[in-house]
Amino acid sequence: MNDVLILAIETSCDETSMAIVKNGHEVLSLTVLTQMDTHANFGGVVPEIASRMHTENITMVLDETLRKANMKVSDVSAIAVTYAPGLLGSLLVGVECAKTLALVYHKPLIAVNHTMGHIYANNIESEITFPTLALIVSGGHTDLLILKSETEMELLGSTIDDSIGEVYDKVARVLGMPYPGGPQIEKSSLLGEDAYELPHPMQDDTYNFSFSGLKSYIINLVHNERQRKNEIRINDLAKSFQIVAVDELVRKVEKAMKNTGIKNMILAGGVSANKYLRSEMEKLSQKYGVHFHVPNILYCTDNAAMIGCAAYPLYKAQKFSSFDLNAKSSENIKTYIEKEK
Ligand code: KG4
Ligand code: ZN
Repeated sequence: MNDVLILAIETSCDETSMAIVKNGHEVLSLTVLTQMDTHANFGGVVPEIASRMHTENITMVLDETLRKANMKVSDVSAIAVTYAPGLLGSLLVGVECAKTLALVYHKPLIAVNHTMGHIYANNIESEITFPTLALIVSGGHTDLLILKSETEMELLGSTIDDSIGEVYDKVARVLGMPYPGGPQIEKSSLLGEDAYELPHPMQDDTYNFSFSGLKSYIINLVHNERQRKNEIRINDLAKSFQIVAVDELVRKVEKAMKNTGIKNMILAGGVSANKYLRSEMEKLSQKYGVHFHVPNILYCTDNAAMIGCAAYPLYKAQKFSSFDLNAKSSENIKTYIEKEK
């Protein structure tokens, strides 16, 4: 087969991103224009502003991505786009752009689920070995899966309430840190001691996660201490929070390693940029003789390169979309797996 060049578009949240990816693993060019500074003024992503900014920026991002690869749209094999899940208005900008390019340049259109994109970031400069356990930790999701092959997967567990990224962001917010809170908590925790005793999430027999109890406990603790005019040791609290939150992930992954005997493990999603989580997962994998892989930090948070990687198996299987492709805000991995069966 000739080289497959995929022009990929990702606009599901607050990053306008495009990439050109060769054969599902080689990133020829990547542009990520983040709106983070704008949304930081509001303490979180404002959907209406996000979609307006995507509309403003997407053509420039396309131009820049093509220029960096020294290519024209006519050179690529297909156009891929994130169609779900995410903010509807934001997704629609990317979907419409992809459809227009595919129509004008007579290219096949490939619809990619955002979570599958995070998983396939593990193919960049590497290759996923099947079967593998996969833990997806992002602002929208916390899922533990078995990937049996490129086309077959099984969901072991998900969060039953908040996602881990959401909790990082909420805890950061109550501690007075700017959005997005994950990287701020990570920095702050490096300066602290594990001095706060925090409740551990549910100790049950499932592979599901729960973070809302921990989140509420911290929010109440901070409010109560403030009311009493007591000092809050921010760095210590950030550290104690991170230890308990990551431990919840480690515990469920350890159970999966023990019960399934699977010898590969991949980590994905924005929170996988966290060095403490990366090192705890690495340690756990070593303990069970499991081969562990996590994307370069650059490819952990939202980017279009991962969408180009996830589109490659779909390209090989000729799974192309028609021009009535629409954006979907709420297609989680469970719905996706059922749809693909
Ligand atoms: O995957 P992503 O970019 O967007 C979604 O698909 O949701 O994930 C964003 C999430 C945010 O909650 C952000 O705070 C978190 O990833 N995050 C981190 C770190 N970098 C990003 N959380 C903890 N430590 C980090 N270094
Ligand atoms: Zn994401």
